[in-house]
Amino acid sequence: MTSAEARRATRAQTLRLLLAALVLCVVGSVFLSYTSITFSVSVSRRVPRHASSVLAKCADLRRKPRPSEGFYEREQSDRFQPGTRPLHIRNATLWTGRVRGMEVLTGDLFLEGGIIRAVGHVGKHLLSKHRDVETLDAHGAWVTPGIVDMHSHLAVEASPSLVGAQDGNSFQGLVLPWLRSLDALNTHDDGFRHSLSGGVTTSLILPGSADAIGGQAFTMKLRPTDARSPSSMLLEPPFLYNGTGIKYEPTRWRHMKHACGASRVYDGTRMDTTWAYRQAYNKAREIKVAQDEYCALAEAGDWRALAEKSFPEELQWEALVDVLRGRVKVHTHCYEAVDFDDFVRLSNEFEFPVAAFHHAHEAYLVPEVIKNAYAEHPPAIAMFAAFSRYKREAYRHSEFAPRILEDNDIPVIMKSDHPAIMSRFLINEAAQAHYYGLSENIALASVISTPAAVLGLDHRIGFLREGTHVVVWDSHPLSLGATPTQVIIDGIPQISPAYTLPEKPASHQRAPVTPDFDAEAAAALAFDGLPPLQPRSSGLSEGILVFRNVAHVWVKAPDGRNIVDLVPDREGLHPLQHPDVVVERGKIVCVGANCGPHRARRDTVEVDLHGGALQPGLVSFGSNLGLQEIAMEVSTTDGVALDPLAADVPAIAGGAAYVPHAADGLMFGTRDALLAYRHGVTVGITAPSHTSFLGGLSAAFSLGSAHKLEEGALVQEVTALHVSLAHGTKASVSTEVGVLRQLLLPLEEFGKRGFWFEKVVNGEIPLVVDVDSADLIATLIRLKMEVEAQTGRTLRLTIAGAAEAHLLAAELAEANIGVILSPARSYPFDWDRRRILPGPPLTPESALTKLLSHNVTLGLGPQGVNAASGISTWAVRNLRFDAAWATHIALLDAPHFLDKASAFSLASSNIETLLGLDVRAGEEDLVATSGGDLLGFEGKVVAVISARRGTVDTF
Ligand SMILES: *[C@@H]1O[C@H](CO)[C@@H](O)[C@H](O)[C@H]1NC(C)=O
Ligand SMILES: *[C@@H]1O[C@H](CO)[C@@H](O)[C@H](O)[C@H]1NC(C)=O
Ligand SMILES: *[C@@H]1O[C@H](CO)[C@@H](O)[C@H](O)[C@H]1NC(C)=O
Repeated sequence: MTSAEARRATRAQTLRLLLAALVLCVVGSVFLSYTSITFSVSVSRRVPRHASSVLAKCADLRRKPRPSEGFYEREQSDRFQPGTRPLHIRNATLWTGRVRGMEVLTGDLFLEGGIIRAVGHVGKHLLSKHRDVETLDAHGAWVTPGIVDMHSHLAVEASPSLVGAQDGNSFQGLVLPWLRSLDALNTHDDGFRHSLSGGVTTSLILPGSADAIGGQAFTMKLRPTDARSPSSMLLEPPFLYNGTGIKYEPTRWRHMKHACGASRVYDGTRMDTTWAYRQAYNKAREIKVAQDEYCALAEAGDWRALAEKSFPEELQWEALVDVLRGRVKVHTHCYEAVDFDDFVRLSNEFEFPVAAFHHAHEAYLVPEVIKNAYAEHPPAIAMFAAFSRYKREAYRHSEFAPRILEDNDIPVIMKSDHPAIMSRFLINEAAQAHYYGLSENIALASVISTPAAVLGLDHRIGFLREGTHVVVWDSHPLSLGATPTQVIIDGIPQISPAYTLPEKPASHQRAPVTPDFDAEAAAALAFDGLPPLQPRSSGLSEGILVFRNVAHVWVKAPDGRNIVDLVPDREGLHPLQHPDVVVERGKIVCVGANCGPHRARRDTVEVDLHGGALQPGLVSFGSNLGLQEIAMEVSTTDGVALDPLAADVPAIAGGAAYVPHAADGLMFGTRDALLAYRHGVTVGITAPSHTSFLGGLSAAFSLGSAHKLEEGALVQEVTALHVSLAHGTKASVSTEVGVLRQLLLPLEEFGKRGFWFEKVVNGEIPLVVDVDSADLIATLIRLKMEVEAQTGRTLRLTIAGAAEAHLLAAELAEANIGVILSPARSYPFDWDRRRILPGPPLTPESALTKLLSHNVTLGLGPQGVNAASGISTWAVRNLRFDAAWATHIALLDAPHFLDKASAFSLASSNIETLLGLDVRAGEEDLVATSGGDLLGFEGKVVAVISARRGTVDTF
């Protein structure tokens, strides 16, 4: 029934009831005493005054969410901002989202009144109607609808993270369906402009996952509005203040956050959580049944039966009743098979559909369980590409999950969980899923059309058709480092001034041709999510290795620092014209077409790299790699170093001389280490995990080794001494700096320097300081001068983290202090990092290009996540992509062009230099990739050759 029909029906019914009442009055006056049963029924048809509102309410209960009347005929967006000019985007490659994401048109786009009015061809009548049309020539660039992030905590966990803006989780109970994320949307979150700059136009803002039912979620458009209020940023809210009252609109979708598994609110188990669900849904069901019975009587006109009763409803439970009425999209954070099984039973017991399982790290292992959820359509799976193993529930994650789910016809959504993954880089989650085998059309849809449809908002977003939002890209969105040059929300360009379109190579204007991972995906299923990751290993002495069709050979230059390409680019070379490379005893002995003599031996093994490359093994620093298996499971980690500033270090630990050595706690063969190894990272440098000032001594170890006693497993037992400086820790910053000064320049009455600080002062090992704030970096620069002035020796100082280091680029270069930018692409997670330099399209320069242009020795840390470095070991595998991204950032900032050789040094030799690891030219590990190199989405690692270990590992 349409709303008009409903209104007519209600009017007719009211009229009937009024007539009945009139008749009864007449009859009643004739038969003064009415005793018969027959009459008592008639007499009960007295109509209460609130009848029409009750009947309207009952009719409302049956209304289902759908676009409002006249929606498709509208000429102006309900979010239109007066003064918005019509916009004509010319000559674009339009990915429309239609035809399962397969439709690509070449042509124009016309926006007017805050909505798209023409896609592909723009009629003359549209253009001639206006005088003030703004024109954007896309020069053939990719244009897509805006990205939709279906799992974000933007604004409820605002950045920079301050105590006063952490509103994501309530700890007031286990089941809180009456809470609304809307009540906590902080419009001052720095994240808005960052997410927007990555092409994200719409986000579902969910409460956190501490509770079994955390509350209602709201969909937000990320552009700043004139009203500056959270309400004005909402997209199709189910209720809103309309100028006179709060209008509830039952035809708009609502959203409810659930979280499976043991709750963080109190010490509960999965059993407690599931019972809490059942209890809550039972309560909601009782109310729903009571409402339905009440309405059945009211609609039958039996008002006497209802005489003493009011309409059954409870404010606390109305949203959950709406779930049972099929008007709420149920979003549930659920990880493991047991959790899906529980929730699927719940949905069938109480008969409500599930919109999406979020995180869902094991969904790919149990597609049939997912399909058993109540109602016809399988729920969507909203997940990460590689972020995993941070807790037990995420241990069996597979990077092949998206493609396996696609094979099972389950809708795939990639999401950020912002700020867990910065939603600015949500497109990169889709690009990674594509690298591991998700189809191009499904990968694009996974962050655009699929979430729009699952949110019930595909009439507004997710597709290029009348009424949606637009991103103009500098390259194909699934290519590495794809960056928006303009983002348009409600017809309003958000990037100002519009970023000049940079020239990216033609190869970046189409989706990358990704490697074949069929065998790996099959193994993930065959081994229940834990496929063996150890390489096949053989000794070097077994013979000669010949790599054929090698497009590039990057190695360390004789200086041991720079990386050079032995096969400079020769455009247009046919793959078969690529040279051969001969490797003997782990070293390259011949590159070129004339390596014939080397190939004559019988024990020669030939490997065709199909236009691939040889390159130095990458070196990781900035995570707990090698000190943990699962960050949040203490029994699988080395633990946290003692804090000499907060508590007395026991005498048995050395008292004031206490310095933990990472080498003592190293674990080999962790899954994150082996996955990083499979992605070209061959050496890890790790400092002891610490949450306070003193870190301890880092060690360098080989990721391919099985245990510490193997040849070459421990690459260097001690690399550097580590301390951390940050605001907001237990000791004051001035105390920490004072202690550091005391350790480097001890006053006489406190005795001499400790053994390791003596080595630091003598310049024998570097001092690495984890620090982000520019104020603290400036303090360190002064401290370095002070120490050097007193001792007459040069301190080797490296700063890591370094989010605000760009503000002191010249001073750092002058003081000869190197920087490890970690994460490689900064974000204002906290106050110490509020002044980052985000790079295009927000700023022409980025932290990376600024530091490089001042000739600061620079290394990159894994992108990871905000939290303690421990969480980020999963991200080490992506170091190759982070280094590749650096070349793109530099490309956008044209004068500081960074070639691939330099990108390799950012992720290998520079890190060695900055961390005090000594690896001479010719001794570095070599990584062989087929189909492309490490710095792109085309190459796949096939072998690692290590002269140091005397091994050739193949995958
Ligand atoms: C569209 O842009 C491309 C790339 O700049 C150019 O080669 C082509 O001629 C343009 N087409 C039109 C119709 O302007
Ligand atoms: C606003 O909402 C109130 C409460 O539902 C309703 O009575 C009123 O008619 C609405 N006003 C407008 C202008 O829609
Ligand atoms: C950085 O080094 C290059 C090459 O040695 C030099 O031309 C340039 O002037 C240096 N830049 C700065 C800011 O020192």
